[in-house]
Amino acid sequence: FQGVVAVDGPSGSGKSTVSRRLAEALDAAYLDTGAMYRAATWAVLQAGVDPHDADGVLKVVEAAQIEIGTDPAAPHVTVDGIGVDAPIRGPQVTAAVSAVAAVPGVRAMLVGAQRAIIAAAGAIVVEGRDIGTAVAPDATLKVYLTADVTERARRRSQETEADQHATAADLLRRDAHDSGRKADPLRQADDAVELDTTALSIDEVVAALLKLLAG
Ligand code: CDP
Repeated sequence: FQGVVAVDGPSGSGKSTVSRRLAEALDAAYLDTGAMYRAATWAVLQAGVDPHDADGVLKVVEAAQIEIGTDPAAPHVTVDGIGVDAPIRGPQVTAAVSAVAAVPGVRAMLVGAQRAIIAAAGAIVVEGRDIGTAVAPDATLKVYLTADVTERARRRSQETEADQHATAADLLRRDAHDSGRKADPLRQADDAVELDTTALSIDEVVAALLKLLAG
C-alpha cells in the first residue's frame, strides 16, 4: 500500500485502535493528530496559561517543540524532549484540549507539522477530526467512524476507568465544542465512507477498511 488513509470521527468511535491496527496490517506509518493537540495542551497547562487565553496559548505552542513518533507499534509524543504519553491522557488535558484546539494559530501550526509528516511517509494512516477535510483532502481513502454515544462512553470509560455517565457528558461537551467551530469545520468529508462501529468489533472494522482499500 502507498498513500494516505484518513480516519476521522468523534471520541470513542474506535479511531485510535482501528487506525493503529490498520497501519500495522498495511505496513504503513501511523499519525495520531489528537496526541499532538493533547501535547500542545499539556505544554499550556505546564506553563500555567489559561487554555481560554488564545494569545497566551499560541505563544506557548509556538515555543514548544512537539515531536511525535509514527510507528503504530510504539506511539510516543514528546514536548521539549519530555515524554508526555501518560499525562496527555489525564483528565486535566482532556478537559482543556478542545479550547486549545480551537485557537486558529495552533491549528495552523499543527496542521503544517502534520502535512510535513504525511509528505515524508510513503504510506500512512492518519487519525483525527479534520484529516479528510483539511489536513489531507487528497487522501487515498477517507473514513468517518461513528458509534452511538452510550457505546462511545462505555469504551472510553473502560480505557480511563472513569465513571461512564461523567464520560458520556464529557464526550457530548467535546463533540459540541469540536463541531461548533466555524473557521476550520471538523465535519465529515463529502467523499468519506461512514462506518457505524456501534455493533462491530475492532477486527470487523479493520477488515472492512482493508476490503475498501482492496476494492
Ligand atoms: O479520542 P479523543 O476524542 O478522546 O481524543 P483525541 O483524538 O486525542 O483528540 C482530542 C481533542 O483534540 C479533540 O477533542 C479535538 O478537540 C482535538 N483535535 C482536533 O481539533 N483536531 C484533530 N485533528 C485531532 C484532535
